[in-house]
Amino acid sequence: MKSKRSLIVLLALLMTLPAIAQKKRLGNETDAQKKKRLEWWTDARFGMFIHWGLYSEAARHEWVKHNEHLTNEEYQKYFDRYNPDHFDPRKWARAAKAAGMKYAVLTTKHHEGFTLFDSKFTDYKATNTPAHRDLVKEYVKAFRAEGLKVGFYYSLLDWHHPDYTVDDAHPLTQVDTSKANYDRLNKGRDMNKYRAYLRNQVRELLTNYGKIDVLWLDWSWEKGSKHGKWGKDWDAQNLLKMVRKLQPGIIVNNRLGLYEYSDGGDFETPEQVSTKELDAYKGHTFETCQTFSGSWGYYRDENTWKTHRQLLDLLISSVSNGGNLILNVGPTARGEFDYRATNALDSLSYWMHANSKSIYGATLAPDSFKVPSGQKLTYNAKTKRLYIHLYDYPADGKLVLTGYKGKINYVQFLNDYSELKYTENGSDIELTLPKNKPPYEIPVVELSLQ
Ligand code: GLC
Repeated sequence: MKSKRSLIVLLALLMTLPAIAQKKRLGNETDAQKKKRLEWWTDARFGMFIHWGLYSEAARHEWVKHNEHLTNEEYQKYFDRYNPDHFDPRKWARAAKAAGMKYAVLTTKHHEGFTLFDSKFTDYKATNTPAHRDLVKEYVKAFRAEGLKVGFYYSLLDWHHPDYTVDDAHPLTQVDTSKANYDRLNKGRDMNKYRAYLRNQVRELLTNYGKIDVLWLDWSWEKGSKHGKWGKDWDAQNLLKMVRKLQPGIIVNNRLGLYEYSDGGDFETPEQVSTKELDAYKGHTFETCQTFSGSWGYYRDENTWKTHRQLLDLLISSVSNGGNLILNVGPTARGEFDYRATNALDSLSYWMHANSKSIYGATLAPDSFKVPSGQKLTYNAKTKRLYIHLYDYPADGKLVLTGYKGKINYVQFLNDYSELKYTENGSDIELTLPKNKPPYEIPVVELSLQ
């Protein structure tokens, strides 16, 4: 008896261990304050990622420099002829807005090291190409004018900077991975100088363009990886402190490599995961980043484009797990969205026009609502609405909602607010749906809750 009790005490102690071993904190913001700061982002649920840079000219992945082991000299041709003559960010902003996206994040610098903005700390920038302009400035202006929130992606990696030490992702270490090659390439490189450069550019970005809503820093290796970089390599703690000081309201992703801090980033960033994998993030603060096809940068010959249904599934599954989706467009070297991206966005516009109420301000449904088999739920606590996304449209027009009796008072389709009749059966509700499926890939039923 006694030993049983001590076993229980031991078990209880073990269960509290994670709470005792709490992560360290960098700042002193409370959970409630963080929730408030993230409120617009949590309500928005849907954003546009934009990967655009010199790699758009190669048109075969934003990692082309790495994949083809190109030297700075070999890559220079893209810089010399960078001239996006159709670049008009107002068109991008309008397309994003029409698709129901509420914010955008643009690659101000990707791993290739080229800056779309006019930085005082480099010559490797858009203003020195035939484009002759600060493209970030125009992006910010255009997206703000459309009422969208504005975000910057900035690559921590830099495959052009002479002081950035080579690591296992660097284009120059791909063929010869010997220690001798690393030593040879790293001779004379000084990460202290690169750290200062990185800090200076982030400061420019957060000083010269007004209020910035999101900062997306990319990326850090797993802690301890042999030829990788993380927090200490970026001086991440101080970098983040500076970011928060310059832009107190800003929302920052979690790729700085500050693993031991609970506030080392505001949201998790599951990349290109399946909707099934998203279930593991239920209730976390997350934004899944996804491409239309396999690549982030414009890839002319990449043909594995996601279908409209797959894109909707990503959006709905993100919200039904309490997170956001940021969907990427890789504009061409002429500065336009290509026809496949435009078609995909148009289809999303059509769906969002009719069904966005199940997305904005929505989140995962309380456990007390059983998910009808094959369908997905979202929930808006403020408006007291529950949304059933009809992945499988019932052929017999019947949808049984197990245990819903007494919980609802009105049911309608979201797309046209047309009433849906229901009967009660024991503790269940039985909905009658029309034979003809509404003209949406995934129609939505809206339930007003008691
Ligand atoms: C990865 C890739 C990169 C892309 C990013 C978006 O870290 O390196 O090319 O920009 O993910 O999430």
